[in-house]
Amino acid sequence: MKHGLLLLTLLASLCSSPARSTPTGTPSADRAIEAKITALMARMTLTEKVGQLNFPSYAFPREPQLEAVRQGRIGGLLNVVNPAHVKDFEAVIQASRLKIPLLFAIDAIHSFHIAFPTPIAWAATWRPELAESAAEAIALETAQTGVNLTFAPMIDISRDPRWGRVIEGAGEDPMLGAAFAAARVRGYRKGGLATSAKHFVGYGAPEGGRDYNGAQISAPELFDRYIPPFQAAIEAGSETVMASFNTVNGVPVTANRRLITDVLKTRLGFDGLVMSDFAAIMELKNHGVAADLADAARRALHAGIDLDMESKAYDRHLEAAVKAGKVPMSEVDAAVRRVLRVKYRMGLFEDSPGGVRKIPAKMDEETVRKRARAVALESFVLLKNNGATLPITKESGTVALIGAAALATKDHSWYGPAALEKPRTETLLDALKARIGNRQTLLFSEAFADACGQAFKDKEHALATARAADVVVLIVAEDCTVSGEGVSRADLTLSGVQQEMLDALATVGKPIALVVETGRPLALSAANDEVASMLIAWHPGTEGRTALADVLVGETAPSGKLPMTFPRSVGQIPISYSDLPTSRPPTGDRFTTGYVDEKPTPLYPFGHGLSYTTFAYSGLKVSAPGVRPNGKIEVRVDVKNTGLRAGQEVVQLYTRQTVASRSRPMRELKAFEKIALEPGEQRTVRFLLKASDLGYHDEDGNKVVEAGPIRVFAGGSSTAELETGFEITD
Ligand code: BGC
Repeated sequence: MKHGLLLLTLLASLCSSPARSTPTGTPSADRAIEAKITALMARMTLTEKVGQLNFPSYAFPREPQLEAVRQGRIGGLLNVVNPAHVKDFEAVIQASRLKIPLLFAIDAIHSFHIAFPTPIAWAATWRPELAESAAEAIALETAQTGVNLTFAPMIDISRDPRWGRVIEGAGEDPMLGAAFAAARVRGYRKGGLATSAKHFVGYGAPEGGRDYNGAQISAPELFDRYIPPFQAAIEAGSETVMASFNTVNGVPVTANRRLITDVLKTRLGFDGLVMSDFAAIMELKNHGVAADLADAARRALHAGIDLDMESKAYDRHLEAAVKAGKVPMSEVDAAVRRVLRVKYRMGLFEDSPGGVRKIPAKMDEETVRKRARAVALESFVLLKNNGATLPITKESGTVALIGAAALATKDHSWYGPAALEKPRTETLLDALKARIGNRQTLLFSEAFADACGQAFKDKEHALATARAADVVVLIVAEDCTVSGEGVSRADLTLSGVQQEMLDALATVGKPIALVVETGRPLALSAANDEVASMLIAWHPGTEGRTALADVLVGETAPSGKLPMTFPRSVGQIPISYSDLPTSRPPTGDRFTTGYVDEKPTPLYPFGHGLSYTTFAYSGLKVSAPGVRPNGKIEVRVDVKNTGLRAGQEVVQLYTRQTVASRSRPMRELKAFEKIALEPGEQRTVRFLLKASDLGYHDEDGNKVVEAGPIRVFAGGSSTAELETGFEITD
């Protein structure tokens, strides 16, 4: 077989200037905007220009900030959610000299009033259109307040579940991550908010999984793994990008001109605004790359950070630095132009091309709830189901529901609903009672003193309840306080006394269905050995427990798939299906890759997830034996529902280039589609692969599509066995 020493280097320009969709959208509108900005900037004083780059948190008392806005010294504010307060600021703008509108931003991540499941759960649906509908609904709720920008989506790829912020992203895979990044951007924008794709770049790769810690990322990894979601978000029209807190290869991103200006703005063609993260410019001193706040301001602006979130470094120091000749006026002007461009594109100005932005009509609460429930229903991942323990049917007999989380109505995530009034939420106990209460006995024991099982309430009562039942449903939850920012974990087993409870319940001898609410993959080896069924429910949100009951009783079959690997133990991290091969593939023997005290495989691989029915794959075929580097090839596979009930399956396509100039990942996800099949129904699923999507980046960051053999795998997880192949020809 001919394989490739021919490197087909696609010029770096292939990666630049992606098609951008703006709210106005046409080149003439863009030209009109630039002309308006030029005219406006000609009228602005240096103070007013620097003011546009100042982005502080809303502070009390309000008078000093209202005055600063009056003077043109603030370009946007974060965390103003009271509509009356937004109006007060807008009134001040209307009375100001230049009337430049403000950005009002909050972290509308997965909720404003109604909480949707957290974003990792959106990714587990493997249906980007559900994420789009979720983001739209959240944006519509948020926009009613006058807020016009969300600090979302977080699209950091991460292979490290110790990092608490995996809850906000789409998991470990660049292709899945890019699909969800684009969908989330589209959704928020449809709902009337501008977006901030964050955190550019490599924030999800902190060494040791410790939040804010530095990352070491090679050029191929940067472009192949971490950048694709940002490229997708930019192409979907994200108006802003937020820089990450951490260092990449030793240089803090906030001061990293190579990453912000050369890669993001120039190579990816991003012409919106780049903001710092919260106080990140000030923290350049902590990184040891700035002597003081003035130095930090200079470095961040030079790197390409247009907007200073919270540090007040630009506000305090840029004017003097320009006057002293330490900062070129052109750098300030370039940043101001980007901020104004985004404000025009958002339709915030009276004379924005395409009209002034209006607060979109409200979506009625029932529709928002329906959407939240639809996401939750498809996000649950059934990891195992021995003996068809789930769903609970009449034949299951007496059911013991155990765990205080069955009484919980709040979401455990860090980013809970921002609205003051909490929405009505059904508990799992009530939702189950409503479904099976009048057909079979449902016993209940709280077992724990709190929803996350930090301490026992009554262990003996829980055991007695299990003894009196035919089947046990134990619901456990990751510690309420440890999902989100600043909560890295070194131990990923069940927290508190939950494992102890499970150990005790296992001795009772009844089949156990374990339901796990979590913001991240956990190390569930011990639990896995003790239970018949295991369902990952993530943090399911306001409609989540209702959806959970639907799935537990089989009204809906689970259809989620893992967007991130579940390791056997923390020592395996990082572990991914797309790791590179080694010289000594793991066989279990000594002197091969692996551990002497742990298996080399994860507990559950990326893409895994069962249904209440089964699916068989066959007939995997490619449309041609070879494809040119600029060509396309069709892959098709037959999928049949071989069980007794309807279900949905995520059909996944992986490739591997087995011979190339660099070691290529053992598998890479290249396409997926979720389909619904009735019992006995068979469908042919077709995927069109571009040969260029099978390429990679070399150490200089150039895109390469290399001639050589490609293996193709199709199935229901990243361990799919059905295999065929073709060749990229030169
Ligand atoms: C987080 C950002 C967030 C910002 C504003 C920071 O601590 O890293 O993701 O948008 O705060 O709340």
